[in-house]
Amino acid sequence: MSTWQMIPDSVLFVKIGFMELRIFESKEEVARSFSAYFQEFASERSVAHIALSGGSTPKIVFEELALNYKDRISWKDIHLYWGDERCVPPSDEESNYKMTRDFLLSKIDIPEENIHRIRGESEPEKEAKAYSMLLEENLPLVNEIPQFDMVILGMGDDGHTASIFPHQINLWNTLQHCVVAEHPVSGQQRISITGSIINQAKVVAFLVTGANKSQKLREIIMQEREYEKYPATLVAPKSGNLLWFLDREASSLLDENTQR
Ligand code: 6PG
Repeated sequence: MSTWQMIPDSVLFVKIGFMELRIFESKEEVARSFSAYFQEFASERSVAHIALSGGSTPKIVFEELALNYKDRISWKDIHLYWGDERCVPPSDEESNYKMTRDFLLSKIDIPEENIHRIRGESEPEKEAKAYSMLLEENLPLVNEIPQFDMVILGMGDDGHTASIFPHQINLWNTLQHCVVAEHPVSGQQRISITGSIINQAKVVAFLVTGANKSQKLREIIMQEREYEKYPATLVAPKSGNLLWFLDREASSLLDENTQR
């Protein structure tokens, strides 16, 4: 059963089962709305452990946070981690850490000890184990699974999320908290958190913009066609708190008559 309603600045806001879709006219409005949500979320906690997504979509959000939330968020109470990283040095253009440093970290006053990057330059298997340990030591454990306050995710136009790709969807259910994965086209090695951690988070927020994502998004949201092959379909936090921040282009194949 889905309910559609308007909220300020949004095109549409819909609940489909346990999912909340917040749809905005543009990626700029997605960035503004998510940043406001993030600020409120952080203000409600004495400390917040947040897993960041990589790729290109977060850049506009990080710019908005750096520009308009530099002094409106108590960054000393925020601990930042990554849901995945490319196995490259932190100075590499492909590095999710470098992207975050360039667009956010270099512009806000956050203690270095609050930044817990994945060492993409290290031996992948070793780093996957080391990062699993770091999460177990830093995060509260619920049923022996580290619990983030918020996991931020992107989605690829192939339906992947974090660095769990359709050709390796089996990695989602491994017992390890972090695994080594491989990009299906470039073969680039990645380190990624797995399904157990993602679905243990108090809140999971997807940031998905652009028309190239619309087909997979429709299949996943409406559980149509090949949705079961897409790792993003497996995102179902036990808390029931799953938010999709979408622009009109990404949601262009969804409409008010869309029922599930
Ligand atoms: C990464 C990501 C990945 C990303 C999607 C979407 O390291 O690439 O974490 O999961 O979120 O590939 O990427 P875009 O935002 O660039 O479309």
